[in-house]
Amino acid sequence: MVKQFFTLDDFSMEGKTVLMRVDINSTIDMRENKIIGRERFRQLFPSINELKGSKVVLMAHQSRAGNPDCVKLGLHRKVLEEVLERKVNYVEDLIGSEARKAILDMENGQILLLENTRLYSEENAYSNRPSRLMKDTYIVRNLSPLCDYFVFDAFAAAHRSQPSLNGFTELLPSAAGRLMEKEIAALDSIVSGERKPMAVVLGGVKVDDSVSIASNLLSSEKADKLIVTGLVANVFLMANKIDLGKRNTGMLRSQVKDLDKYVEMARSLIYKYPYQIFMPDDLAVDNNGQREELFIDMLPTEKLIKDLGRNTIEFFCDEIMGCESVMLNGPAGVFEQDDFSFGTRAIFEVAASESIYTVMGGGETTTVIDQFDLRGNIEHISTGGGAAITYLAGRAMPVLDSLKANKKRFRLG
Ligand code: 3PG
Repeated sequence: MVKQFFTLDDFSMEGKTVLMRVDINSTIDMRENKIIGRERFRQLFPSINELKGSKVVLMAHQSRAGNPDCVKLGLHRKVLEEVLERKVNYVEDLIGSEARKAILDMENGQILLLENTRLYSEENAYSNRPSRLMKDTYIVRNLSPLCDYFVFDAFAAAHRSQPSLNGFTELLPSAAGRLMEKEIAALDSIVSGERKPMAVVLGGVKVDDSVSIASNLLSSEKADKLIVTGLVANVFLMANKIDLGKRNTGMLRSQVKDLDKYVEMARSLIYKYPYQIFMPDDLAVDNNGQREELFIDMLPTEKLIKDLGRNTIEFFCDEIMGCESVMLNGPAGVFEQDDFSFGTRAIFEVAASESIYTVMGGGETTTVIDQFDLRGNIEHISTGGGAAITYLAGRAMPVLDSLKANKKRFRLG
């Protein structure tokens, strides 16, 4: 099938300098100074291996500006070396003279990792601006003259718009990497709508993405059921006028910028789709380290909510069992603590059962899959939770659009 964007098949990159945007954004154990999870690193192997006759310059982000884990990429370099079993050079610079000299000094077969793009204010300031404006940024102006091609293999960030993601496609011939190709192909098979009914289970902590996309999933009739868990469920409960208690609300406020806006959005969804949105009717809270179950009508509580309650777990699992396909993004609770892992484990296990076509996505999701050893029956494990649900919902994917425009701009022959 002819693709709407270039792939590695379209160019001969041997002996060339290839600027490659990857997504190795990871959970970092800040106390141990350790990266948790290797999946996003492993999935880069096919593209990087294919480019072993080129000079490969890697660009990546870690976390978001201002977060404590928005750190330099020294740890990432070590994990890349471990996973690729190759030497990876690293400069603590993205666009300055050190980075530029390191690129110019490269030889074929070498890999160079540049600094965390989100440590540069321009990357953050240009978020969500149109691609055409990004070619004027220092990031694009300083790096593009040193490179022959741009390869995009950061599927997990393909729903974002930033200079390092969709700026280079304005100037350099650009191709999707093998991971990007694989992700799009797998998601296309669920987007086709042949496997109905379909449930989308949204959990985890990225409430902004989930609530924004929920509306598209339901209005486009891609999702027949929307099941909310994790912090996403807490926002829907607030939208349903449930008082979670000061501590839980405070915790949500500290994690979700513009919480009130998302509560409002969730409220209008509940109003519009009362029979398609499934919310918890009991929860598990942390009582001095012990699991304690509470029905919703026993709220508010000053104990932290850490999991779904047993009734809800059973109810959600039944709803999932009644579906042909499931897209699952994010854990249902604090799965790292045994006592609060019941909901996550049960929901993931049922979604992974043989009779259901399952796509799961996201950094934390992959950690859960490995922790409970569930890889066997999952049709596709996406490296990107937010990106996968955005694609599924049919919303704009700025990088994909810029790759398509690039194919028109650099049409071969
Ligand atoms: C992710 O981890 O989902 C991607 O790296 C995108 O990160 P972001 O949500 O901070 O843009």
